Amino acid sequence: MMPTAKKKEISKPTISEPVKAPAKMTLVSGIQPTGKLTLGNYIGALRQFVKLQDELEDTELFIFIADLHAITTPQDKTELRKSIRNVAALYLACGLNPEKVNLFIQSEVLEHSVLGYIMESTAYVGEMERMTQYKDKKGKQTEGIRTSLLTYPALMAADILLYDANIVPIGDDQKQHLELTRNLAERFNNLYGETFVVPEGFFPKTGARIMSLSDPTKKMSKSDENPKSYINLLDDLGLIRNKIKSAVTDSDGAIKYEPKKKPGISNLLTIYSSLTEVPIKDIEDAYKDSNYQTFKAELAEIVVDAIRPIQQEYFKIINDTKLDDILTAGAERARFVAQRKMQKVYKRIGLGRIK
Ligand code: TYM
Repeated sequence: MMPTAKKKEISKPTISEPVKAPAKMTLVSGIQPTGKLTLGNYIGALRQFVKLQDELEDTELFIFIADLHAITTPQDKTELRKSIRNVAALYLACGLNPEKVNLFIQSEVLEHSVLGYIMESTAYVGEMERMTQYKDKKGKQTEGIRTSLLTYPALMAADILLYDANIVPIGDDQKQHLELTRNLAERFNNLYGETFVVPEGFFPKTGARIMSLSDPTKKMSKSDENPKSYINLLDDLGLIRNKIKSAVTDSDGAIKYEPKKKPGISNLLTIYSSLTEVPIKDIEDAYKDSNYQTFKAELAEIVVDAIRPIQQEYFKIINDTKLDDILTAGAERARFVAQRKMQKVYKRIGLGRIK
């Protein structure tokens, strides 16, 4: 039952009209275009987006490339532009269907920044300073910490609240930001009157936190200095096999899921289960008389089989102008919804003039 990334023609979308019968639910999520996307992003986020797109009925989806979030730390402008396009193409290569999803670039919908500022004016400095991701990232930098690194969760709240999202599919590391978003929505509603939907996080049952292959006590992250610690979705397939085979595991050799005692093999079991949808218990049973070497070799093939079709699609899409058409249509639709919401927000707060 290996999952395969959907192969599809990218049809040229028409600029989206305001929907006549509005969808009952809204899903919003995004990914930062910093570096290349990892297997962690795929399992924790991208795969979930595709599943939800196919499973949810009566739901409008807004999925974006969070480029404004990327500049909370310094970026090279050529690389940033490249990464934005990479992420857009990877979204489609993983199976997002532009007929079902509004795919767009965050900075092309200016309302994100305006509502971001309004969320900063709703949030307290103390709650921003408590965000663990801020504390971690700040800890790694010695000087020149940008203000936006601190205020970034307010922008993330804006990304979500702008569209009245009910469902926000994310990995575990974004849980705290989602909690903050819920608090800000409630605070704003109490201060100014009912305006925002309070969103729910949606976390994958397995794979909400894929760990580093070289240090399985840490999250797999695209910003890790050691490239052996993560699998980049665009890595050469041979390199992917090697990275899985050389993943750090313990020395007792039992293929058992015990995240505290055996974080390395537990992480590999999670990857296996996430990609095949076979429960971890059944995988343990199947490999009870096996060894790490055999398990890793078979897992390597599962990972390669999942990534190969994504790469094939990616290379078909990356230079196609249809990708631009999809992003243009996505931004138009997002702008329409966002502008309508901002009119309400302005009115609630008393900004600007009466129209
Ligand atoms: P980002 O770009 O760091 O990650 C994108 C998504 O991938 C998930 N993820 C993982 N899941 C499992 N295991 C991992 N090792 C792993 N690494 C990353 C993340 O949880 C996330 O869901 N702030 C967000 C982007 C964002 C956003 C939003 C998300 C901006 N605005 C609004 C949802 C809604 C971020 O930096 O994710």
